[in-house]
Amino acid sequence: MKVYKTADYAAMSKKAANIICSLVVLKPDCVLGLATGSSPVGTYKQLIEWNKEGYLSFAHVKTVNLDEYRNLPVTHDQSYRYFMNDNLFDHVDIDKSVTNVPDGMAADIEAECKRYDALVASLGGADLQLLGMGHDGHIGFNEPCDEFPVGTHLVDLDPMTLEANARFFDNDPKKVPNQAVTMGIGTIMSAKKILVVVSGADKAGIVAKALLGPVTPQVPASILQFHPDVTIVADEAALAEYIKEGGKVCD
Ligand code: F6R
Repeated sequence: MKVYKTADYAAMSKKAANIICSLVVLKPDCVLGLATGSSPVGTYKQLIEWNKEGYLSFAHVKTVNLDEYRNLPVTHDQSYRYFMNDNLFDHVDIDKSVTNVPDGMAADIEAECKRYDALVASLGGADLQLLGMGHDGHIGFNEPCDEFPVGTHLVDLDPMTLEANARFFDNDPKKVPNQAVTMGIGTIMSAKKILVVVSGADKAGIVAKALLGPVTPQVPASILQFHPDVTIVADEAALAEYIKEGGKVCD
């Protein structure tokens, strides 16, 4: 696992964008696994800028997103499909028909989960999966639980997650959809490379736990310790506890 420390969110975003950019340049038809939330927004902004400047093309890139709220129409400005269009796809030269987000509106959600797993497998898995990290250690929407879920599944969101995401729903946790469809830990771990972006002092405790603590489904991100190619790009504030506890960072 490589851990890079940056001064702040802006530097984190630029470094993460550099890592994604280098992959797309070397493999223009790569499959990118993408995330939503606040953590990757700056990374997407940087990628858009480089795309506009002509340094980087998404013309042959395919994407698979981690997750989507249950029963939130794609036209809702907090749906993850809307987020991805708004924060990346609408601003770059990607073919939107090969950008994939689980269908949270599907009537038969079990069939949708199976379809999504088959889709990811048919693409050969993600060449790089971008992740954020929740305050309870969730990745995708894999919340703390007793066993690591393998495939795409429907999940009940934790009160901590509803609280954290209330900022997007009039600061009212009751307005946050309480379920989501998410790739499983098995699907996430099948990505060839994993890139995690984390920022802010409020994530310092969970970052230290996930990277240095025991690997347990109670801290879903701890599973990343077992992946052969993980890069963490985090700002100083998010790495404070990790460094205090003796965690190593790259030069
Ligand atoms: C988003 C996702 C979540 C977020 C996590 C952190 O697609 O799967 O795991 O990455 O909730 O969210 P932010 O970045 O908003 O702190």
